[in-house]
Amino acid sequence: MRVLLTGGTGYIGSHTAVALIDAGHQVTLLDNFANSKPTVLDRLSEITGVTMDFFEADVTDREAIDSVLAHRAFDAAIHFAAPKAVGESIARPLHYFNNGVGGTVTLLQAMDRRGIRNVVYSSSATVYGMSDELPFREDAPTEVINPYGRTKLMCEEILRDLRQSDERWNSIALRYFNPVGAHPSGLIGEDPQGVPANLMPFVAQVAVGRLPVLRIFGDDYPTPDGTGVRDYIHVMDLAEGHVAAVEHLATEPGHDVINLGTGNGISVLELVEAFERVAGVPIPTEVVGRRRGDGPASWADATKAGDVLGWTARRSLDEMVADAWRWQSQNPNGYPD
Ligand code: UFG
Repeated sequence: MRVLLTGGTGYIGSHTAVALIDAGHQVTLLDNFANSKPTVLDRLSEITGVTMDFFEADVTDREAIDSVLAHRAFDAAIHFAAPKAVGESIARPLHYFNNGVGGTVTLLQAMDRRGIRNVVYSSSATVYGMSDELPFREDAPTEVINPYGRTKLMCEEILRDLRQSDERWNSIALRYFNPVGAHPSGLIGEDPQGVPANLMPFVAQVAVGRLPVLRIFGDDYPTPDGTGVRDYIHVMDLAEGHVAAVEHLATEPGHDVINLGTGNGISVLELVEAFERVAGVPIPTEVVGRRRGDGPASWADATKAGDVLGWTARRSLDEMVADAWRWQSQNPNGYPD
């Protein structure tokens, strides 16, 4: 298949490009480099042996998207491009609605004009909100807890409405749990701007000496060791989930929402212990107060992905840590400019 990846140079987009090429598909990447660097393209070519087909464009730019779709014939799009920081979404909601929702609408309209109506959408487990009914199943009630989560839920609903209006539209919204790790080559990985907000890149930067100490946000949660529990999933497993989804769309029409997680909950302390053991590097920690907006625990019921897509996460926590560490230690300052 020929697949367009919006946000293709980002963390999940770049790993999905590798997985699609490995599975024999052709990819075209589109990105505006808002949260990624052009070097990613060289690294992708080094891994895959394929020169990347790339367009620098913004998904909110109607003319630019029309022009990309006019120059290539696609069977499907995987739509990653969107801002994704919870705190920033509270401070700048219009930026999130313009890019997250407006960008999605612009892309879908452009696809519709060209008769491309298969789309896989990057959603998030954040749509389950603060519920404590674990594990999260796709039919659980959704709840919006910040503007970022609202953009994800709105786009899921747009895709559902689109299917209802026109049966030629096929879509799968993938609800990601906590993607971590990197391609085993260590050539691509997660490269957050500024101080990382997420646990694994923070731990990796402490391990490499870029940051002095990991602050653990609360050890008084109602969890086995008191620290927050999440469903960490290896980014290559997540990438392969996208391959399964886009291939599924080609044969099974409809609209669906599917969790991509492992189904296992891991605490902050368990992740830190795994990192220290696998990397052989001590991680200094200090316990501080809870972070606003954090819930105690989140993990997936991952059965539907197995039943519908024939996909399950295969990589262990140790592999997630080993690959995150390889990426960080080979690229202590992330991608070069
Ligand atoms: N944590 C720390 N210290 C840190 C960073 C995180 O103790 O420096 C803890 C958090 O309190 C939480 C766990 O590590 O218990 C994981 O935190 P992350 O920030 O890595 O992940 P979250 O589950 O909070 O957030 C992720 C995505 C969001 C998404 C959310 C729900 O980053 O975009 O999952 O799907 F909204």
